[in-house]
Formats: sequence, structure tokens, C-alpha cells
Amino acid sequence: PAKQLLAGKRVIVTAGGTREPLDPVRYLTNRSSGKMGYAIAEAAQSAGADVTLISANAVLPTPTNVNLVRIQTAAELLAAVEEQFQSADILIMAAAVADYRPEHVASTKIKKRTDNQTINLKLVRNPDILQTISKIKQDDQIIVGFAAETNDLLANAAKKIKAKKLDMIVANDVSNPQIGFNSENNQATFLFANGQQVKTDIESKREVASHLIDTIYKRFFNQAK
Ligand code: C5P
Repeated sequence: PAKQLLAGKRVIVTAGGTREPLDPVRYLTNRSSGKMGYAIAEAAQSAGADVTLISANAVLPTPTNVNLVRIQTAAELLAAVEEQFQSADILIMAAAVADYRPEHVASTKIKKRTDNQTINLKLVRNPDILQTISKIKQDDQIIVGFAAETNDLLANAAKKIKAKKLDMIVANDVSNPQIGFNSENNQATFLFANGQQVKTDIESKREVASHLIDTIYKRFFNQAK
């Protein structure tokens, strides 16, 4: 947006996919590229906001005039969000956070078994960052989540708004290879806590980001309405 709609606002954006280590050389992760979150950080910066981008392992150029914090694991992401959120006006949680992590992280490289037997990997739940943050949220802070789903997109997204006490959720269908993870384009449905929905066209992640920033401004900060 050309106008400085978010001048004076502090915006935290998370992007990318967390990495959960198994040993010094291996980790579990997901297909998130970070492109959507980086585009949102750029759009918020163009709208005049003071932006901190918390990046989980994205391999992308650092947007200009954005504070970049790099983390790897879900636990590190939680710590970074908790630290940054206190003084933020808006949190936009675009990162794909691993739901589970290996229970034990081996201190040395895990070796093949000599008897060719299978090995088991025990996973434990990671904390839900949005649920944790919703407990310290003040009334004037806005939290936007993402819902990447392969099925029952809108029903699942609506449940997440409630469970995570969000102001808004950006739902996208990752079963469609034209949009979503690692693609250039996206199509999003913006859902609000009051049940309203707005669907964007299939457009570039940059355009979706710009719509998102405009929508956040109009919904939550434009007192004239
Ligand atoms: O429940 P689900 O992972 O689909 O919810 C997606 C939203 O929740 C995203 O905004 C994601 O960043 C956030 N999330 C989180 N902590 C987790 C898992 C997801 O904050 N452990």
C-alpha cells in the first residue's frame, strides 16, 4: 500500500518452517518456504510499520528496513515471539510450526543398526505458540493466524479462530499445487472472529500480503470505518 496506513504500529511477522533436530546433522521439517511471511513483512514495512520478522530457516533475501530475527526450532520461535509480543500492536503468525519434536536429541550422529532392524522415533508435542500468546494478549493487540489445510478448509479455520482466540485467520488450501507451500501464488480466505469471510482471487503472495495489510488496517485500526 502506498499510504502509510500502519505508521507508528509495531508488527511482528513469523515466517518459514521450524526445524526439530534429531542429532547434530538431521532434523524434521516441513515444506514452508517463508515466501508468504516475507511478503507480509514487506507489505507491513511499506505501510509504514516498524516490522520485526522472525524467520524459521527461510532462504530468502532479508527485506529492507525490517528487523530480522533468525530461529530454528518451535521452542526458539516461542521464546522469540514471547519476547517481541509485549510491545507489539499486531502479530501475524505465518510460520509453519512443527506440532511434534523428537523426544531425545542425540548428541552424536545416530548410527545405522548393524542388524538391519527398524528403529523407532518417539515424538512429543511442541507448545502451541498462539495458544500461549493468547493468554497474555491485551485487548488492543491484534493476532492473525494462518490455517494451511488439505481438507475442510473453512470449518477447520473457524475452529482455530476460537481455539487460539484469534482476531483473524488466513486460510489457504495447500492441496492445490497452484497455491500454497513454496508456490509463487496464493489464494486466501480471510475469516474473522465474528464469522465474516472474504476470499481473495488467485494472486501473487505479494498481492495477498498487501490485501492482508489493508484488511487489518480497515478492520482494526480505521476508527472512521
Ligand atoms: O493448528 P495449526 O497448526 O493448523 O494452526 C496454524 C496456526 O497456528 C498458524 O498461524 C501457526 O503459525 C500457528 N501455530 C502455533 N504453534 C504451533 C502450531 C501452529 O502458533 N505449535
